[in-house]
Amino acid sequence: MRRKIILDVDTGIDDSLALLYLLASAEAELLGIAATAGNVPAAQVAANTLALLDLAQAPPIEVALGASEPLAIPLRTTEDTHGPQGLGYAELPVTARELSARSAARMWVDLVRAHPGAVTGLCTGPLTNLALALRIEPELPVLLDRLVIMGGAFNHPGNTTPTNEWNIHVDPEAAKEVFDAFSAAPADRRPIVCALDITETIEMRPAHLVALAEAAGSTPLEHVAATDTPDWRSCASNPIIAYLTDAVRFYFDFHQHYDLGYLAHMHDPFAAAVTLDPGLARTRPATVDVELAGTITRATTVADWAGMWGREPNADIVIGTDPAVFFDRLVTRVGALARRLYPEQP
Ligand code: RIB
Ligand code: CA
Repeated sequence: MRRKIILDVDTGIDDSLALLYLLASAEAELLGIAATAGNVPAAQVAANTLALLDLAQAPPIEVALGASEPLAIPLRTTEDTHGPQGLGYAELPVTARELSARSAARMWVDLVRAHPGAVTGLCTGPLTNLALALRIEPELPVLLDRLVIMGGAFNHPGNTTPTNEWNIHVDPEAAKEVFDAFSAAPADRRPIVCALDITETIEMRPAHLVALAEAAGSTPLEHVAATDTPDWRSCASNPIIAYLTDAVRFYFDFHQHYDLGYLAHMHDPFAAAVTLDPGLARTRPATVDVELAGTITRATTVADWAGMWGREPNADIVIGTDPAVFFDRLVTRVGALARRLYPEQP
């Protein structure tokens, strides 16, 4: 049976791989995509997402524009991480696809009401629009079948401040409203949280791009390296491989610049893989709350693993996975999609 999914993104390089992963997976039925401001402004997120649907020759899928600002603070974007348009060095043609007439929050509410107990939500960006949807429909946690969140850091340093992670950093008020809303959720409906503790073990490297190209039958095989200049662009014969090479190379350069190695943490496609197969992840229940008042700790996610606060768990935090299993699925699925859509001409 196909899994109905609402995807909420801030596309974003790794968001784009999450979208391609879902489009490459027969068991995923994408009901709608919410464009949330984060890596880049919401309108750019929407434009990137629509263009990626064209690249993937996807059927019509609703893309709904989210709020232009977080709930309580001005928007902060991160073009230095994801590139001026949000897709690294890649540039995609402008699409004829149009935005939905309804807002992202309204789309969330309408879709979960239309499919009670049957939809999985996957959030790979700030939680602004999910929080707005919860304000409209407080029953959303039980109307959803499951929620998967890429966000937070627990027993692990932050990637935006010493203690907080980007998606929470952008809109901590929204994150707190979301975790609080799930405080009464039954155990089998607690959000599965893919935090930096795990997603920073999902290290994509140039060899993975070569493997994707081989799986797609794309030529030539391109071995990108830190010595490549910013103006270099892929000549891959397969348009999806060319996109991935130009997008992910920017992410490699970013991680290299911050002494993390010539690699890229694939936060969002890992969360997408867990959405389709929760068995990929080992989880542990905890009560999660978000610091809002701290001067140096604001937007930090805190996990109470031992019930010290006397509150029921509201999250299943991923505490283990096998990155190699994930990458095997990513290469197999996205490589096959690329080969199927753009077969090599004899
Ligand atoms: O901290 C990593 C997360 O922030 C990822 O979802 C990335 O796309 C950015 O949104
Ligand atoms: Ca993201």
